[in-house]
Amino acid sequence: MNFTKILTHWYSVFKRDLPWRETKSPYYIWLSEIILQQTQIKQGLPYYEAFVSNFPTVFTLANAKEEQVLKLWQGLGYYSRARHLHNAAQYIVNELQGEFPKTYKDLLTLKGVGDYTASAIASICFNEPAAVVDGNVYRVLSRYYGIATPINSTQGIKYFKALAQSLLPHTNIGDYNQAIMEFGAVQCKPKNPNCIECPLQDSCIALAQKKIESLPVKINKTKVSKKYFNFLVFVSEDKKTLLEQRTTKGIWQNLYQFPLIETTKVLTQKQFEKNKKIKMLLNETKHDFSLYNKKAIIHKLSHQHLHTKFWIISLDKLPQKGIPISEIHEYPVPVLIGKFIDEFSF
Ligand code: ADE
Repeated sequence: MNFTKILTHWYSVFKRDLPWRETKSPYYIWLSEIILQQTQIKQGLPYYEAFVSNFPTVFTLANAKEEQVLKLWQGLGYYSRARHLHNAAQYIVNELQGEFPKTYKDLLTLKGVGDYTASAIASICFNEPAAVVDGNVYRVLSRYYGIATPINSTQGIKYFKALAQSLLPHTNIGDYNQAIMEFGAVQCKPKNPNCIECPLQDSCIALAQKKIESLPVKINKTKVSKKYFNFLVFVSEDKKTLLEQRTTKGIWQNLYQFPLIETTKVLTQKQFEKNKKIKMLLNETKHDFSLYNKKAIIHKLSHQHLHTKFWIISLDKLPQKGIPISEIHEYPVPVLIGKFIDEFSF
């Protein structure tokens, strides 16, 4: 048996039972694939179920409020993906009469759908010969064929896509695409892959050459920058607080947060009291304040480490119109803030 046949056979025996494997509806496959780009299957499953039950059709998703979509996405990160999902649903309903695109090429016209997602939907739902290349596929191919070309170089991206394409079977293309991804996720794992029981062990180059640990190769492109966030958690006598919606472009666009003061260094209590922005916000309102976490919480994003402090400001009356704290859970917030809200007893 060759590589493709071995993987397809392995998949028929070991594949996990997952709800999106019982359908070929492009709407459901699209939802599952967009969610799975953000997280592993186990963590993604409850999100998929929440999306399907809240938005059983592309029409219900298109008609939803953006806030509801963001709320359901909360915790997955990269909120632009949720906004694109919503946008694409509206496009399908308004411009395509609710009819999902059926080819790789047409799928690419949807917001948030790139080579990976278009290939996944086209192959799984319409049996189009389009190879998926995700992190799992890079790992399996680079190890099995012993390829050290960096997977995130222009050359590598082209090379692996062409190789993956050349390995497609003639039938059941969607199953094969899922097989190679599933194999990467559960067998050829990043750490401690199960080589002892691997059906490809006789012909795997990385295993023969003891290169399992060093493949795939990735070049370090991104520099991580540090940011210093100070969130102002107002608590008034009548149990209200202030939330503001982020409008600036970026991963948290349109999410809610406590008023934020960004500084260039960790802010001390003394500097906090003297800060001009805080003085302006408080506008002479009598208040008490305390620092929730003396040590900054470091929230790690892919390109940024956010050194975060939450400052609790207790006062009789808010300096601006606020929201009842009892309603705070209705607002979509970044995970960093969601965690604080869960931990802090208002
Ligand atoms: N990872 C993302 N999508 C997948 C799928 N359809 N099958 C297996 N692993 C996946």
